[in-house]
Amino acid sequence: MVREPLLRRIAAQVLGEEKSRIVWKRIDIVGDIAIIRAPPNAIELEELKLIGEELIKRLPYIRSVWLASGPVDGPYRVRTSFTHLAGEERLETEYKEHGCRFRVDLSRVFITPRLSYEHLRIARLVKPEETVINMFAGAGLFSIIIACKSQPRIVYSIDINPYAVELIRVNAQINRVADKVRALHGDAREIVESSLRGVADRVLMPLPELAIEYLPAAVDAIRSRGFIHVYLHVKADKQGDPREKSIQLVAGALAGLESVKRFRFTGARKVRSVGPRLVQTVVDVEVEK
Ligand SMILES: C[S@@+](CC[C@H](N)C(=O)[O-])C[C@H]1O[C@@H](n2cnc3c(N)ncnc32)[C@H](O)[C@@H]1O
Repeated sequence: MVREPLLRRIAAQVLGEEKSRIVWKRIDIVGDIAIIRAPPNAIELEELKLIGEELIKRLPYIRSVWLASGPVDGPYRVRTSFTHLAGEERLETEYKEHGCRFRVDLSRVFITPRLSYEHLRIARLVKPEETVINMFAGAGLFSIIIACKSQPRIVYSIDINPYAVELIRVNAQINRVADKVRALHGDAREIVESSLRGVADRVLMPLPELAIEYLPAAVDAIRSRGFIHVYLHVKADKQGDPREKSIQLVAGALAGLESVKRFRFTGARKVRSVGPRLVQTVVDVEVEK
């Protein structure tokens, strides 16, 4: 992890204090690649290229710098465009998190270092011999960190992006947990309904866009009792705490399901900001059927 003051100093030296404030918190480092998520048109491309060159000069482990010039979008939640700023022209790298290694291509799979705390938080909740289902697994970060840090029986890891599924398999092998992580390609709801009903002690739903819609499938996936971790996007405005709003959304969805006897919230937290007045939250809920 790069110390933030250093990124701030580099940005300030190139852009001056005022403009640097827009940029330095928006530099993500994934493996040996730096991605600058500057808001469109806020800073000239030439100035961003100067920052890119400075990052490569001052941080020897950074080999390539890109501007995130398109949003994260589409069914695979992949960034739609990047503009090269400095160094090697590649988006493939090896990213390390909590002692695990992940091969990724930033243009083909979702990845963000901003979920790092959440990956470990969930892994620490998993008890030995649990069966876990990760409904939206991406490159396998939650799944593999769970397999490395806890002793699950198995982590079924579903993704609709075929490249993500290939990466889950490769990354499970690199981290020597291929016996614990089973990669499954397809739509999470269809896979659960066809072959994973009533098997899980814990279900992860790290895709806010589908979490409420697919919650009935997560309930179907658990045994008579189990934990579900629901990730949501909610507005952060003056009308209430985003965690409370998230709890209400999940409570409303669970209350409408005939199979649910009881449920109890065991946690709710703000995970990260994802846009102007929009935050990602997670709700942890224990459900009894
Ligand atoms: C936000 S990313 C997951 C991030 C990942 N859990 C991590 O920690 O890095 C969401 C993933 O859900 C996948 N996805 C989207 N729709 C899906 C569906 N219907 N069924 C299964 N996976 C889906 C996308 O391909 C994407 O990889």
